[in-house]
Amino acid sequence: MTPGCKMARARRPPVLLLMLLMLLGGSCRLSRGTSAGPVPLVIWHGMGDSCCNPESMGYIKKIVEEKIPGIYVLSLRIGSNLIEDMENSFFMNVNDQVELVCDKLAKDPKLRDGYNAMGFSQGGQFLRAVVQRCPSPPMFNLISVGGQHQGVYGFPRCPGESSRICDWIRKMLDIGAYTKTVQERLVQAQYWHDPLNEEEYRKNSLFLADVNQERGINGTYKKNLMSLKKFVMVKFLNDTMVDPPDSEWFGYYRSGQAKETIPLKETSLYTEDRLGLKEMDQAGKLVYLGAVGDHLHFSKEWFFKNILPFLQSS
Ligand SMILES: *[C@@H]1O[C@H](CO)[C@@H](O)[C@H](O)[C@H]1NC(C)=O
Ligand SMILES: *[C@@H]1O[C@H](CO)[C@@H](O)[C@H](O)[C@H]1NC(C)=O
Repeated sequence: MTPGCKMARARRPPVLLLMLLMLLGGSCRLSRGTSAGPVPLVIWHGMGDSCCNPESMGYIKKIVEEKIPGIYVLSLRIGSNLIEDMENSFFMNVNDQVELVCDKLAKDPKLRDGYNAMGFSQGGQFLRAVVQRCPSPPMFNLISVGGQHQGVYGFPRCPGESSRICDWIRKMLDIGAYTKTVQERLVQAQYWHDPLNEEEYRKNSLFLADVNQERGINGTYKKNLMSLKKFVMVKFLNDTMVDPPDSEWFGYYRSGQAKETIPLKETSLYTEDRLGLKEMDQAGKLVYLGAVGDHLHFSKEWFFKNILPFLQSS
């Protein structure tokens, strides 16, 4: 039973209403939205971005607040100011970032009864690590907007002003993405997935190989991920920044080459169901959305029509 459920009962709604809510399934969570205000939203920005840029995350926060009056939106800042936040998206160990976020969420009284989460680009896979590792407070829906759940193999382009940093990142990845030094210092190396060298990836990837259960199965990860109500994955159909864009729907290059891609359903992660994704799929919990446009390019109308519904209920 969720705390929201207890609250709904404490207020003794009419029996008929309670039964109706139960019939609808997920009754307790559903009732929470009406009895205790809208479900809060946690946002994690992408590479080279920050929590509060009025043209990116600040804008998203604003339009969500306009559409869902009274909602609490927490746009995560990793570090003590906006510059640090941006730098950490390149240079801070991802496992440490996830731990810091888990701690922040656990201490936030406004999130106590649970929240929805929306990650942009790499923020998508980072929030998936949050739900897998930190079940409390509970995450209801996870929306990954252009996240790279099987990692990347290349940096064809970089966002706006960070192209100098990106040149440097490419150099580091070339020198040795799986060396200890690069792994520990470079965020993008931690989700670098070399399909020609799966063994190195499995052994040395500090972050992604762990959350994708490449080194063995952690039942806790599976159980926690499966506790999501919906896992929504947005793929940008004309993405020129993510290599390969299939990673946004959890697909990837078929092992041993870097041309042909396979969808999630054909990966061993799915067929062996190491992460519970197959079971979630069969239960209708996986939602694949395709957005026409380049990486993170979408209109306000598209967002309202396709994403807002997942934020309006828990
Ligand atoms: C599984 O994941 C949980 C959550 O992060 C962690 O506490 C636990 O130590 C992990 N177990 C193993 C065997 O790695
Ligand atoms: C974007 O991708 C879609 C789906 O693959 C395709 O139909 C469309 O022509 C592409 N648009 C542009 C501008 O490339």
